Amino acid sequence: NKIANQILIIFGASGDLTYRKLIPAIFDLYKQNSLPEKFSVLGVSRTPFTDDSFREKMKEGILKFSGLKPENEDELNKFCNILHYLPINTAESKDYSQLTLRLDEIDKNENTQGNYIFYLSTPPSLYGVIPKYLAAEGLNIENNCFRRIIIEKPFGTDLKSAIELNSILKEDYKEEQIYRIDHYLGKETVQNLLVTRFANGIYEPLWNRNYIHHVEITAAESIGIENRGGYYDHSGALRDMVQNHLMQLLALVAMEPPMSIDATSIRNEKLKVFQALRPMKDDDLFKNVVRGQYLPSNTNGNYYKGYREEKDVAKDSRTETYVALKLFIDNWRWADVPFYIRTGKRLPTRVSEIVIHFRPAPQNLFPGQEIHKNNDNQLILRIQPDEGVSFQTKMKIPGSGYRVKNVNMDFHYSQLHNVYLPDAYERLLLDCMMGDPTLYIDSGALEATWKFVQPLLDFWKNNTEAPLYGYPAGSWGPENADRLIEGENKSFRYPCKNLSNDEN
Ligand code: BG6
Repeated sequence: NKIANQILIIFGASGDLTYRKLIPAIFDLYKQNSLPEKFSVLGVSRTPFTDDSFREKMKEGILKFSGLKPENEDELNKFCNILHYLPINTAESKDYSQLTLRLDEIDKNENTQGNYIFYLSTPPSLYGVIPKYLAAEGLNIENNCFRRIIIEKPFGTDLKSAIELNSILKEDYKEEQIYRIDHYLGKETVQNLLVTRFANGIYEPLWNRNYIHHVEITAAESIGIENRGGYYDHSGALRDMVQNHLMQLLALVAMEPPMSIDATSIRNEKLKVFQALRPMKDDDLFKNVVRGQYLPSNTNGNYYKGYREEKDVAKDSRTETYVALKLFIDNWRWADVPFYIRTGKRLPTRVSEIVIHFRPAPQNLFPGQEIHKNNDNQLILRIQPDEGVSFQTKMKIPGSGYRVKNVNMDFHYSQLHNVYLPDAYERLLLDCMMGDPTLYIDSGALEATWKFVQPLLDFWKNNTEAPLYGYPAGSWGPENADRLIEGENKSFRYPCKNLSNDEN
């Protein structure tokens, strides 16, 4: 095991992310023997836990949320010995000397040699504060050791605040020390995009404007905003999902083959995609965008609240819970190929997928066959659930004449026996421990993606008459989103839980 001994310090350790995601992911790494030989976690937040009570709470989280459940109580207890806790007020500079003392003590006992990862799982208002106080204690200095910071989204709320936050961090930290997390990049199936594209010889020659008619990227969620009204009502779908997760998927679909699979090569290619995005202006902001907000509904005998009835949401809120965009990448590969991006809450099902729609055969020798929407060859890259890849192609229906049918050639990850799909946080935490930033967001990509969405944010802010369509909770969003899709008989795909859904 070559990973350097280290301590992971989690700020906001009493929060949900630590309980549901971070500690269960670390447990899963432990189970697979992937942690450094000497490794400790120090939870930090205001809640007055002791080491023991913190461990008890984390045990609950592991039992509920880890992918690889503990075999017995002993295994769980043994793991929990690496967890420690320090109750301090992280907004107070004077409390940080206690942190230094505690880290020194763990270093001494565990031989962790001053290697620290600071994970900021706190309210975003502390993103500019905690790193400053750490630096004041000298905890940013890499002297024969490493010091890294992981920052959760939202990284800024617009272009200006993202640039400001970047520059605050850069006063004390080098870019290589800053790991901005986008958990979508940690998903196994998102990384598989690179393998599908660049480990196969057959796709790349077709992967361009000559053969691709359009590309769809969807992240649909059936859940509403849960208890996050306070955050979401100031965010909305564009900030919450598009600027980060969907832009990252777009870049992986559209980028040129990198020189190699290292962080710099991949980041450079992704950045070029963001830089080639055609800026949305004037008419585009009306014509190429549909936004919506969910309304109360009765679906299958269940009552679903409307967005404005949710806790901590303004009664007259105009925050979008759905957004569909049509955009273009102005470069040689993609000139004039529309990319359609769509995300929403309270849609009929949870599904994230990328669909490559190929151009039709140049002549229709079999007229009158399969005349339904989206009657084209599609490559569907399914990110979740029922992870896998499906290729929709046409076959003859046996019998007289030429009757043509769409069929799917499918690969489902679930068909592989004994394959464990690790949680996104597991992969991302491990990468940071190893010092590999490939799957993290660099400042260039961050600023370029904010730059792309900023005109739309401004437009909505300044034009209260810009349309916001209501859609019943549990439906596929505003019906007129389909008007964005260019071409006869084309609409968004309406996927279901199962990847092989022939009816779309
Ligand atoms: C988060 C958003 O970043 O991603 C949430 O803040 C959203 O609103 C979540 O629900 C979706 O992630 P996943 O992994 O469930 O697709």
